[in-house]
Amino acid sequence: MAPTSSDAVRETFLQYFRARNHTEIQGASVLAKDDPTLLFINSGMAAIKDYFTGVRTPPTPNLTNIQPCIRTIDIDDIGDRHHLSFFEMMGSWSIGEYWKDRAVELAYELLTDGFGFNPAQLYVTVHEGDEAMGIPFDEESASAWERVGMPRDHIVAQPTADNFWGPAGNSGPCGPCTEVFLDTGEEYGEAYRPGGEFDTERRYIEIWNAAVCMQYDKGLDGKLSPLPFRSIDTGSGLERITLALNGYDNVYQTDLLSPLVTATQDVLGELGDIQRHHRVIADHLRASVAIMAEGVVPGNEGAGYIPRRLLRRAATLALTRGLSTVDFSPVAEAAIDRLGGVYPHYRTRQDQVISGIRSELGEFEGALRRGLGRLDELLSTKPALTGADAYDLLSTFGLPEEIAREVAASRGAAMEESRYRADFEAARHTHQERSRGEARTETRILPSSILPASVLTLPATTFVGYDRMTERATVLALLGPSVTDGHLAVGGEADLIVDRTPLYGEGGGQVGDRGSFTGPSGAGSVEDTIVHSSGKHIHRVRVTEGTLSVGETITLATDDARRAASAANHSATHLLNAALRRVLGAHVRQAGSLVTPDRLRFDFTHPKPVSPDEMEEIERLVNNWVLDDLPRTTQVMTPAEAIAAGATSLEGESYPDDVRVVSFGGDPAAGFATTVSTELCGGTHVTHSGQLGLLRIVSQESVASGVRRITAYTRHAALEHTLEQGRTLATVAGIAQSSPRDVVEAVERLATRAAAKAAERKSGPTQVDTDAVSALTVGGVDLALAAVPPDQVGGLRGAASGLAKTADRVAVLWTDAEPSTMAVAVPARYQGVVNANTLLRGVLAVLGGKGGGNDTLAQGGGARRPDPDALGATLAGMLPPAS
Ligand code: ALA
Repeated sequence: MAPTSSDAVRETFLQYFRARNHTEIQGASVLAKDDPTLLFINSGMAAIKDYFTGVRTPPTPNLTNIQPCIRTIDIDDIGDRHHLSFFEMMGSWSIGEYWKDRAVELAYELLTDGFGFNPAQLYVTVHEGDEAMGIPFDEESASAWERVGMPRDHIVAQPTADNFWGPAGNSGPCGPCTEVFLDTGEEYGEAYRPGGEFDTERRYIEIWNAAVCMQYDKGLDGKLSPLPFRSIDTGSGLERITLALNGYDNVYQTDLLSPLVTATQDVLGELGDIQRHHRVIADHLRASVAIMAEGVVPGNEGAGYIPRRLLRRAATLALTRGLSTVDFSPVAEAAIDRLGGVYPHYRTRQDQVISGIRSELGEFEGALRRGLGRLDELLSTKPALTGADAYDLLSTFGLPEEIAREVAASRGAAMEESRYRADFEAARHTHQERSRGEARTETRILPSSILPASVLTLPATTFVGYDRMTERATVLALLGPSVTDGHLAVGGEADLIVDRTPLYGEGGGQVGDRGSFTGPSGAGSVEDTIVHSSGKHIHRVRVTEGTLSVGETITLATDDARRAASAANHSATHLLNAALRRVLGAHVRQAGSLVTPDRLRFDFTHPKPVSPDEMEEIERLVNNWVLDDLPRTTQVMTPAEAIAAGATSLEGESYPDDVRVVSFGGDPAAGFATTVSTELCGGTHVTHSGQLGLLRIVSQESVASGVRRITAYTRHAALEHTLEQGRTLATVAGIAQSSPRDVVEAVERLATRAAAKAAERKSGPTQVDTDAVSALTVGGVDLALAAVPPDQVGGLRGAASGLAKTADRVAVLWTDAEPSTMAVAVPARYQGVVNANTLLRGVLAVLGGKGGGNDTLAQGGGARRPDPDALGATLAGMLPPAS
């Protein structure tokens, strides 16, 4: 059977009610513009509340429409079979005209005849009555259902919590309701038996609130009073009816949502293997589009809070799975594409919506990355994330508490809930007290801060720092509590905005520049530079001399050494990325990066640890490129041209129309094929790879499943690291009484001895099988020679000493293996006559090996196993003759 499209469902519903004397009215905006009790329209009736109270009169008593709605109260259920934060409600109303009987007749006929549902699969609920509210069992609705053909055992009585609807908001029309559920089959759970549990979570899905019997007006004091007249309000989710008619498992399979889920899968690629996450992201993007198409910008207050929360939730799902940046535009586009026919303003506002989503996520990614970075550090030093830590991460970085908790739990570092909660609340309390106590809190502008309108409308800052390290600039704004009438006095700190700057603002993984300024009336330092989401560079300045004032022309200078170090590390990141792809394979994708003057950190997708050999090859490859002194070229082009030119990654921030393409190697005139690395990047770089001096990889670790992290140094830090490694080696050689050249053997020897000692302690000395001992006299020396099984190597020295003592002969034991370990022990009577060490070395010289010990006991390893006869001959040349 062909699937029933959502468009067919829309048309069937509206057509049915139009044909039965209902007037189709326009749906309203999802924003509850004129209703102070609501932020969003959460049901069809919410947009026409005044008809129920009589404040306004409808065009005709009976109405129908399809109303887009936003409901976030069930946010944790989203991703299950049927909950959504944005949905379209098909509604019908009778304002003061027909009552329950007619409402039930209309609903049953549409469901069975119109949509063709099998009556045996339909169940209904009715209000069971509520003494406290003075409401009796709703026999009227139950009888009406029976009359149209619903068997009694499909009619379920439910309490107020389930079957009393409204008000929409905290006051207004409300009443008991009767709802229709579809039995989706035994694979979803136990069948309902009268008197038993009615499972509305999985098996029975609500498809229509078929009649809210509007008869009460709830006041702000919570009291119910009768409405002047009774009305019927119904609502049915378009997505759920489409799910039900097609026999799907969930609403995400409907034509309304499946293109969004597919787009989400494409965005997440191989990292996004959790189906529920795809659904949640599809839902959240769709709702954000619906809200932002009304002109709402994500923010901390009012309607803007919901798209912010939804987008951040969606981004978190992607970013905590290892992606360093996420562009949900394809999902938003799919939503606009899918619903633009019904809501044409989605199309006309498409650019605004998509760029709004990008900028919201761009800012959030930075905050999330910093917060997760700090969390990483915390968890590397502590067994568990405390409530105070989580509060600190929230207040300093804006890292949502649930994310911090989730990450900690996934690493087995979650604190017991009640202790954690108490700790968190205590930290919150202390923080609030402190804030109250501080007369003036120093507030800094963050990329996501809300700027005063006069500042927001200033143009984006022109960044000239790709080519210049100093620049003359005009002071456009100074922001902060220390600023008085546009002046900042000596000692003061504030955020400075200028028209042009040579200082790089944090972005694309690279930290912001520091530097200094000099002006006509003073001078000072720039402690940090960030970029506000509106494109303005925000310089954190401190006046060290005189004053700084709005309107002045100042000279800004970048801290050259710091910038050079950052640039080298950023360039190294590109070369490292290219080398990883060459050595490990093209599946390697950047999953995050941090570039500071001190180090670079690069996260990438790779399913297993990088082996020492691979690591060496990667390091060698990058350093060969460093030695080749490859020229760096930068071109500004359209994203399409960049992709055509072979640029592989879109790094960090969102890009406006033109992108910068940074390449190492080829001359662009000769084509990108000759380059070793081509990346879209807004960061700052060296002009030649030789300026990196040296790249040293210092560590590798796992940061998430399938994501590895490499930390590396360049330039002076790489040199210092290398020198330190040399010093460490020399120290180790000293301890092992060896030289750096021979240290490996020396340490191996120590390790063998330690292992032998340990084995001996564990198993006691090896007993030599006396039958296996050959006693012979060579020259004037009595010898006991024996081979022992290879697994007794651990007790070899002890066994040799024991044998020497008991047999009162020079004992020579070896393991019956190749290579073979040998021990020589000299009993008291031969001390000063036979030297164990000399004897052992002499024998091993013949067998190809080395060893050592003292005059009475020595052990070593030979490449070959001794032959007892030949051994006798060898010893003959080394032992003193009989006297
Ligand atoms: N207003 C009712 C609901 O949203 C129909 O369920």
